[in-house]
Amino acid sequence: MDIVLGLQWGDEGKGKFIDLISEDYHMTARFNGGANAGHSIERNGKRITLKSLPSGIFMKGVQNVIGTGTVLDPVSLRKEILHLKQFDETIDPENSLMISKKAHLVLPTHRLLDCFMEDNPDYTTIGTTRNGIAQAYSNKILRQNLRVGDIDSPDFSNKVEQILERDYRLLAGGDMVLPSLEKISSEFFEAIDFLKKFTRTETELVLNTALSEGKKILAEGSQAAMLDIDHGTYPYVTSSSTTAAGACVGLGVSPKKVGEIFGIAKAYCTRVGNGMFPTEIFDSLSEEIRQKGNEFGSNTGRPRRIGWLDLPALRYAIMITGVTQVILTKADVLSGMESVAVCTHYELEDGNMARTSGTLPDNARPVLKQMKGWEGDITAIQGSSNLPEELKAFLSFLNDELGVPITYLSTGPGRDEILKLNSK
Ligand code: IMP
Repeated sequence: MDIVLGLQWGDEGKGKFIDLISEDYHMTARFNGGANAGHSIERNGKRITLKSLPSGIFMKGVQNVIGTGTVLDPVSLRKEILHLKQFDETIDPENSLMISKKAHLVLPTHRLLDCFMEDNPDYTTIGTTRNGIAQAYSNKILRQNLRVGDIDSPDFSNKVEQILERDYRLLAGGDMVLPSLEKISSEFFEAIDFLKKFTRTETELVLNTALSEGKKILAEGSQAAMLDIDHGTYPYVTSSSTTAAGACVGLGVSPKKVGEIFGIAKAYCTRVGNGMFPTEIFDSLSEEIRQKGNEFGSNTGRPRRIGWLDLPALRYAIMITGVTQVILTKADVLSGMESVAVCTHYELEDGNMARTSGTLPDNARPVLKQMKGWEGDITAIQGSSNLPEELKAFLSFLNDELGVPITYLSTGPGRDEILKLNSK
């Protein structure tokens, strides 16, 4: 099993890379998160964003798995599938998608509670995507949640009603304007009926059987290493394990079965939501990069915060994920700048330096190295030898600093705008 992961704070361009390689795999599998993800891919010249569905859904003959470690919002999934079918009528999720019976459900009140907590000064505002992700995962840990496999049980409706009513009593204590309970409940049960069209099974068995038959599986990470619940910039993180180990836990596949681990990183950094961002750019350059790179949340539309490439954080992400190849994206967005900066280390108060860190240590200062920028439109370049010399120098510097080869360079948003670099 190979794994694709984000190495920064999400939105690195995982969808595009997965789309490029997924035809080499028999199965693609989501192992964490839910409708908080937004994996953008291009089809027929148009961009489409996948939330809960694996990116292999467009590939003929590829089986797609929504794995046990995910949280599934039936209402959102139904909308996503109906929208996708309008976009491309050849997709056939009824025959190419299977869902883990053990994946946890996101209930309608989880979304409302997410909004309630985000807007209530008694709680820390995380800047979530408001999809009820943390509420579903926390109820899973509390062992109070319902799972996909429960939808066939005769008392499923009663249990849901009970939870919705209980949550509404809690929500009534705030000043939120709530939709009627009947409305959210009927929308939810309509989505549950829709969900019944899809195979629900023990995906652990399916995946491990496939591996034992020599089939190739691609595990598709959502969010990114710096948003990992344990190793990320807590509390401003998501609620799941976003690392390679998380893929094994979320899919029930042994670490012994893992082959390549592809880590996706942008040539600069972005972040949506709150939390530390040592290399953040605050002057007008951030707006320039935001517009050029279309740095607006694919899930929520929020403007993304912009910063320079942060090598201490990237080395940390590489360390905790064990990536074997780095895929660098969006170098084209920096084209035309006289110079580009990279944070090489954090200088600590005592004069020492931190070269690898998942946090900005107290009173530390990110140290930026200025490098010569590159000119021109790199999107049309064929063959890495034709890249501008300054970009080659930038890549070579990163290769040395990261200790893991950069094997692909994405040179533009289009499907084919990606170059294979040095082979391993
Ligand atoms: P949640 O996952 O919706 O609870 O949001 C928690 C944090 O993770 C917030 O800062 C979100 O902006 C961030 N986040 C969640 N999913 C993504 C994603 O797919 N890309 C980028 N950031 C994300």
